[in-house]
Amino acid sequence: MRGVSGSSAGARRRIIVALDVATRSEARRLVQRLRGRPGFFKVGSQLFTAAGPEFVRELVRRGERVFLDLKFHDIPHIVAEACVQAADLGVSLITVHTSGGPRMLRAARRALDKHSRRSRRPKLLGVTLLTSLGAGEVKKIGFSDGVERNVIRLARLARRNGCDGIIAAPTEVAVVRRVCGQDFLIVTPGIRLAGGRRAADQVRVATAGAALRAGADYIVVGRGIVASRSPARALDALAAEVSTALDSRRA
Ligand code: C5P
Repeated sequence: MRGVSGSSAGARRRIIVALDVATRSEARRLVQRLRGRPGFFKVGSQLFTAAGPEFVRELVRRGERVFLDLKFHDIPHIVAEACVQAADLGVSLITVHTSGGPRMLRAARRALDKHSRRSRRPKLLGVTLLTSLGAGEVKKIGFSDGVERNVIRLARLARRNGCDGIIAAPTEVAVVRRVCGQDFLIVTPGIRLAGGRRAADQVRVATAGAALRAGADYIVVGRGIVASRSPARALDALAAEVSTALDSRRA
């Protein structure tokens, strides 16, 4: 992969760097330092609101794979049209909230399938329960049967209604893998560096190694890399952890 080789390249490919910064110039600096190394760069609502679709196009033009994480949640027609716009930008992964319901999920997938006659279809990922939600908040929202059962229900809903995979917290990766099988993508945020930072606003957290061993396909890391004094070194440390976890998964 682009300038790197061997198992560390394979490990880095599993890492999605969340460009959670406020300006296009900060994002450009990060991409410059890390380019060609992670599997994807993630553009979320903070950067997208600040820098807009043009910055996404710029990343795609530079040959980076982009995860557009705007977590669409609206009526089926609007979500479907938003997915088409995202696909037009050339991104590889997009997110929708599974709690938007089966019709919304199916509309998103149908729109992408139609669009992909013209270009490669981005993978559709369903957000289950945000990794920042703990059991207390989940109950307050009105989901009375606990975090795990809700995540399982939403993951099944996603699978049956056209999603290629889901976003799931490290604490639910193993059960989702068991319930949804091997050919379902699991992308996992809520990653904290081994021996490192506190969880901040994330609640259902684990290390990259634990998430990978539990069966995650990709991990998403924001502050652990972006707020580090040396993002490249932080990425390398994480890749080493990922590589060890992948070895133990194969063993
Ligand atoms: O800084 P940190 O590593 O906690 O960033 C996590 C990233 O993953 C953020 O960009 C956030 O939007 C994203 N994310 C999440 N929980 C989800 C979906 C996405 O934390 N369920």
